[in-house]
Order: sequence, then structure tokens, then C-alpha cells
Amino acid sequence: DKAGHKHFMAKEIAEQPVVLANALSAYLSGDSLILPEPGLDFTKVERLVMVACGTAYYACLTAKYWFERLARLPVEVDIASEFRYREPPVTKGTVALFVSQSGETADTLAALRYCAGKADTIVSVVNVETSSIARESDLALPIHAGVEIGVASTKAFTCQLNVLFLLALEAARVRGTLDAHEIAQLIGSLRAMPGLFNAALAVDPALDQAARKIAPARDVLFLGRGYMYPLALEGALKLKEISYIHAEAYASGELKHGPIALIDKDVPVVVFAPKDSLFDKTVSNMQEVMARGGKVVLVTDAAGAASAGADAWQTVVLPTVDERLAPLLYALPAQLIAYHAAVAKGTDVDQPRNLAKSVTVE
Ligand code: M6R
Repeated sequence: DKAGHKHFMAKEIAEQPVVLANALSAYLSGDSLILPEPGLDFTKVERLVMVACGTAYYACLTAKYWFERLARLPVEVDIASEFRYREPPVTKGTVALFVSQSGETADTLAALRYCAGKADTIVSVVNVETSSIARESDLALPIHAGVEIGVASTKAFTCQLNVLFLLALEAARVRGTLDAHEIAQLIGSLRAMPGLFNAALAVDPALDQAARKIAPARDVLFLGRGYMYPLALEGALKLKEISYIHAEAYASGELKHGPIALIDKDVPVVVFAPKDSLFDKTVSNMQEVMARGGKVVLVTDAAGAASAGADAWQTVVLPTVDERLAPLLYALPAQLIAYHAAVAKGTDVDQPRNLAKSVTVE
């Protein structure tokens, strides 16, 4: 049932405020995290290894920034199909964490089995609670996204981010890298996120307009720095898989190490840049793009638009958010740009060619 939407993907994007609010109430009691049994004691954790595929991998990449910055915990992130065949050393003191919507992705499951008996604890972050990955974990953390039907993962991504952020906060609390006041503040910001999601969904007409401009392009570049880099990767993946437009993402700082050679008037560049601590650096990369005739869709907040929006091809203004939580909020425009570009091109949004919802083969 598409609940009045044209596609499951549109429905699943629109559901995010409600789904996230539910997920928050499942995990939080006041400012304390509620974990399913047997819980996880971060005092003993020396290293976190996170493994996943596709969108779930980008959730892990985002979480690396959180665990490192907030909890000062060393983190490694890898793609399951690389990790499993590389046979990396997994030493004591390691928590191995696997993220999967379906819980059945063959490479992720094989990577989990490789770590079993080597890592101290196997943790999974899953949507399907009865899945193989959940069953074979010491601790399975449900994301509470509800059934996701569209092949392009949307609400599962934001709900994965939510659980990973809460885990990073818990690690920070136990390791004493954030004090109670800072944690309460961040939880307050997270609790405000469903409301900000609604505000972001209201920006849909501007995103639709941007997507229609992008739709005729053959190639699109996505740029972001810091927390916005994994999100740029996610935006590019979404666009490729449902609109079949070739899209690539780069960390903004890498632009001049190669990809800037691609820039001309025919390659739209989507820049995710809230006015955070790295904003000025991203803007100077954006100006390098515009100086070469590149057309920029700038996704930012009011302060960012006021200081750098004037020369962009199009500026999309999102609500202001704590920069540490920006990946959750900016996921919505990334999804909506891809969705509207696919609709404009008339592709099969929910069942894109060559793709399956759950990749159970290697
Ligand atoms: O079920 P999983 O989360 O393990 O699936 C991983 C990827 O196959 C999945 O995220 C894929 O990249 C999506 N189609 C992205 O939208």
C-alpha cells in the first residue's frame, strides 16, 4: 500500500519523521540509552570495525566521524566484499559491527562469520530482526524503520544513522569524552530531528526543481566535506541507482586532485554544505567549480545561503541543525533529488533495472 504516494520510495521518504520518532522512543528513556540484552560495555572496547555494503556502508562511514570525534574511539570501516577476502587481523578488544537493512546481504553475513570467534563482540544494526545477521550477532540492534520496499534505501538509512549516533553517544558517555550536559544537548537535538525532517520535506518543490534541471545531464558530481562527505556518496549512489545518471561523489578537498578536470557547463555539481565549521572551505571549492562554468546546486541552511547562495544555479535552504546531526537531515534532500530526477526521466523508481532489494548472492 503506497498510502496515496506514486511510489513506495516516496512513501518511505515521507514516513521518516514518524519512523524516526518511534525509533527514538524505542532507544531513549530521558537521556539514557536503552540497549537490548546483553548490552555493550564500551569501557573495554579498544577498536571498532564496521562492515556493510551500499547505503549501509555510507551509514558506517558517517558513524566513523561520530565515534572518532565524540568518543575518541579508533574506527575502521570497510565494504563487506573487500573485508572478507582480505582476511584482516581482528584482534581482542575489537567490536565488529555490521549494518544491514535486510540482514541477509551475502557479503556482510560472510564478513560477520569471519569475525565470529575473533572479535570480542559481534554487533549488528538491522531492520529485519529475524534475519541471519541479527541471529548470528551477540547483540542485534533493530533500527525500527518498518518494512522498506523501494530498492533505493531511504528510511533505513536515516534509522541506521540514528542507532549509530546513539551508540557513539553511549561510547562517549562511558569513555568520558563528553560530559552529561553535552550528551543531554545532543539528545535534545536528536529529539528535535523529526520536526526538522518535516521542515526538510516541505522544501520538496525546490528539490524537485533542482532535480528537473539535473535530469538531462549525463554526469553529476556530488561534493561534501566532513559529515557531508559520506552523505555526498549516498546522494550519488541514490541518483545512479534509480535515475541511471552517472554520478560520482568526492570529498570537496579532493576536487583539485583530479575531478575538477571534469567540470564544464554540462556537469551539474550538487554541494551539501550547511554553515558548519568547514563551510568556508567548501565554498571556496564551490567557487572553483563555478569559475570553470560548473553549475552548482547548493544545499545549505539560511546562513549558508545568505553568505554563498547568490551565484549558485540553484540554492536549496534547509533548517539549521547541529552540524553533528546534519547527515540525518541532509539525507532527505539527497533522497528527494534522486527521486525527482528518476520521476522526470520516467524510470522504474521502486524496481530499478539490474537491482534487487536484498543481495543474497556474492
Ligand atoms: O540489506 P542491506 O542493507 O545489507 O543492503 C545493502 C545494499 O545492498 C543496499 O544498501 C543498496 O546499496 C541499496 N539499494 C541502496 O539504496
